Amino acid sequence: MNPKSKFVFAILAATLAVGAAHAQQPIIIKFSHVVAVGTPKGKGAEQFKKLAEERAKGRVKVEVYPNSSLFKDGEEMEALQMGSVQMLAPSLAKFGPLGAREFEVFDLPYMFDSVAELHKVTAGPVGAMLFKKLESKGIMGLAYWDNGFKLMSANKPIRVPADYKGLKMRIQSSKVLGDQFKALGAIPQVMAFSEVYQAMQTGVVDGSENTPSNIYTQKHHEVQKYIAETNHGYIGYAVIVNKKFWDGLPADVRIVLDGAMKDATKYANEIAQSENDDALEAIRKSGKSEVLKLTAEQKAAMRKALFSVHKENEARVGKDTIAEVYKATGFKP
Ligand code: LMR
Repeated sequence: MNPKSKFVFAILAATLAVGAAHAQQPIIIKFSHVVAVGTPKGKGAEQFKKLAEERAKGRVKVEVYPNSSLFKDGEEMEALQMGSVQMLAPSLAKFGPLGAREFEVFDLPYMFDSVAELHKVTAGPVGAMLFKKLESKGIMGLAYWDNGFKLMSANKPIRVPADYKGLKMRIQSSKVLGDQFKALGAIPQVMAFSEVYQAMQTGVVDGSENTPSNIYTQKHHEVQKYIAETNHGYIGYAVIVNKKFWDGLPADVRIVLDGAMKDATKYANEIAQSENDDALEAIRKSGKSEVLKLTAEQKAAMRKALFSVHKENEARVGKDTIAEVYKATGFKP
């Protein structure tokens, strides 16, 4: 081989080697979330990882970062838009600051009596409209995941609206949730989920609201004396991806990931109720916090005090969106 063809040959070999190495590099999906692994969302994320990696046969690697280990709530949305993380599952209460205020319809107190009612909304036109809203923000919605109904917690017994007067209550970043506590005479404080335990322990807040699975896995019941079975609102999630990243995936990989998400969604939504039931049972058994059952009268008093929040937020959330949700669930204002 003369020196010139030797040189051409070497270049060719090097190009092929780089190409082969490149072809073997899996596509990395960083999936960040703020809750513990042993929760409906935590388990759903692990299931998606398992199914996606199995089915993509080495072409995809899903790195799940639970417990705010990559980003806290409040930081993760921007990180997704910047492309520092590819997948998230923020609670529906976390979309207001993004300018997608209609998501706060899910935060309206006593809007849903059951998960079945809620699914009528997420699987219907409102669910689709909300995902459409995200596209102009560089975000694509893939699925809705359940957690469950919220309980109130505090260091004093909380049964009726008057019990909440003056309490500092941690909330997620939703104006509707702020108004909910104001309607009870409490003082809402927006705070990242990862900071709640310490804030309770040190008295920075007096209480909060969350699902049993979140309360139990974050050990809130160890620093709260009372947990009231109010079931006054719902926490669920939108699994979202960076749109540019998703659109840029090879079509066959995207099909595999869509299928894995569909099946992980089914799994996550099937286990959500029992995960929360088990967590509530574990809280009761721990004896660290007293679980209060509300009487029919106490429940009615809470409902009555909180209904004003619907009207108050009509302009923000959208009268039409609220009306559509009422229609889908059969809610009688
Ligand atoms: C919270 O911030 O209280 C929860 O919504 C966290 C979560 O993702 O469930």
